[in-house]
Amino acid sequence: MSGASSSKQDGWRARVTASYRAAYTNPIHIRKGEKLEVQPKETEYTGWIWCVNGTGKGGWVPERYVERAGNVAVALRDYEATELSVQIGDEIVVLEAESGWLWCVASDGSEGWIPTGNTVPITLNNHKGVAMKKVAFPINKKEWAPSLIPGPLTLISTCNRAKEPNVAPKSWLQMAAFEPPTLMFSGSKQNTTEKNILETGCFAVNLVDSSMAAKTYGCIEWFGRDRIGKMGITLSPAGKIGAPLVDQCRAHLECVLRSTKEVGGGFVVFGEIVAALVREDILAAPPEDKYRLLDQVVFLENGLYARVRDACPVQAAKDELPGRWTRYVITLIRTDKPMTEALVRRHVTHLKDLDRRGRLVLCGPFQDHKGGMAIVRADSLDEAGAIAEADPFVKEGAETYELRAWELSCEENNHMGMG
Ligand SMILES: Cc1cc2nc3c(=O)[nH]c(=O)nc-3n(C[C@H](O)[C@H](O)[C@H](O)COP(=O)(O)O)c2cc1C
Repeated sequence: MSGASSSKQDGWRARVTASYRAAYTNPIHIRKGEKLEVQPKETEYTGWIWCVNGTGKGGWVPERYVERAGNVAVALRDYEATELSVQIGDEIVVLEAESGWLWCVASDGSEGWIPTGNTVPITLNNHKGVAMKKVAFPINKKEWAPSLIPGPLTLISTCNRAKEPNVAPKSWLQMAAFEPPTLMFSGSKQNTTEKNILETGCFAVNLVDSSMAAKTYGCIEWFGRDRIGKMGITLSPAGKIGAPLVDQCRAHLECVLRSTKEVGGGFVVFGEIVAALVREDILAAPPEDKYRLLDQVVFLENGLYARVRDACPVQAAKDELPGRWTRYVITLIRTDKPMTEALVRRHVTHLKDLDRRGRLVLCGPFQDHKGGMAIVRADSLDEAGAIAEADPFVKEGAETYELRAWELSCEENNHMGMG
C-alpha cells in the first residue's frame, strides 16, 4: 500500500473542507517489482500516469513510484490506488502527500487517497488543534539551534573609577521587577563590564538596532577603548549615572546597581532603572510602528539575529481582522520626463517620511528595468493611492504608477490557510 512505512503517529491532522467520493470501487494494487504498461490518459493532476497491470486492470499511479522506459514501467514500491470517501468536517490523519493527493487515515481506520485541495491542515495557526511531534532537545544552551530563549541584543556601557569607558555586548538580559523598575543580566566577574559595575555601582543598557548588529557581534575581538574605536561608536554622558551612553543607539536605560547573585557559573547583576531615553520620533508613532522604528535586534544562535519589526496586535490575531494581511504594491513607471538629482532626493525624503510613519515595507528601483516599486502598509486602497500620489516622482510627472492590493501568504497566516 502507499504509506507502507508510515504509521498514524507519523502523519499530520487535517480537516476535510469539501466532501470527496471515491471514484473507483475496485482500485488497482501493485507490488514492488511488478511490470506495468503505461497508457496515455489525460488528468488534471500532474505527476500521475495511467498504468495497466498484467491482468489488464488500470489505475492512476504516481510517476515517482515507478521506473519508466517508454510505455513500460516497473513498480519501485508497493502501491494501491484506493480512494477514501470523506465528508466535509471529517478529521483525518495524512500519512503521505503526493502530487496533489493525500494518503489519509479516516477516524474509522480506513485508508485511501483524497485530493489535497479538499482539506486544510489542522495547525497551531488555525487554533483548531495541534499535531506536533516533539523530539528531545539539548539542555545545554551552547548546543541550542534554534535558541529557545532569544534575548535582546544590547551594549552595556560602563566606566571604571578612573572614568575609563567600556562597552560590551550582552543578550542575557530581561526585566526582574516592576517596582522599583529593575532589570537583570547575566555575565561573568572576569569581564571588564561587571568589574566596572562593582566599582562604580552603575551601568547603561543601550539597545542595538539592525544597523549595529554586525559590529556588535564582531566587536568582542577587541577590548576597552580599542573596541569602542573599532566599532565607530561615540559616547555621551548619561543624565543620572556616571556610565556613558552609546550615541548611535535608539534607546537607553540608565541603571544603578542594586544587587548581584552568583548562579552556577553565572554572575547576575540586578540594576534599578533610574532613567530611560528613547528617540523622540519613536514615541510619536502609532503603537505597532514604535517597534519597527526601534528596530530592536534579538540574539539568535548560529551567527543569526532577528529584527523586532512586525508587532502584531493581539486583538487582530484573535479576530483575523480584515487588512491584517494586506499590503499595497506601488509599481512606479518612468515617463519621458528627465530625472534630476534634486527630484530623486525629494523622492527619498518622501520614502523616509513613509518609513518614519511606519507605512513603508520595502522600496527600491528595478535593476533590469526602468522604474521601481514600493510596498506600503495602508488602511485602504484609497490611502495607498494617496501615498503614491504624494511621491514627488509622481507629483512632478517623472513617473506614473500602478497600484495593487496584495495579500500576504506567510507562515503566520498558514499561507492563507493552505499551508
Ligand atoms: C551578541 C553577543 C551577546 C553576548 N551576550 C553576553 C551576555 O549576555 N553575558 C555575558 O557575560 N557575555 C555576553 N557576551 C560576551 C561578552 O560581550 C564578551 O565576553 C565581552 O568580551 C566582554 O567584554 P568586557 O570584558 O569588556 O565586559 C556576548 C557577546 C556577543 C557577541
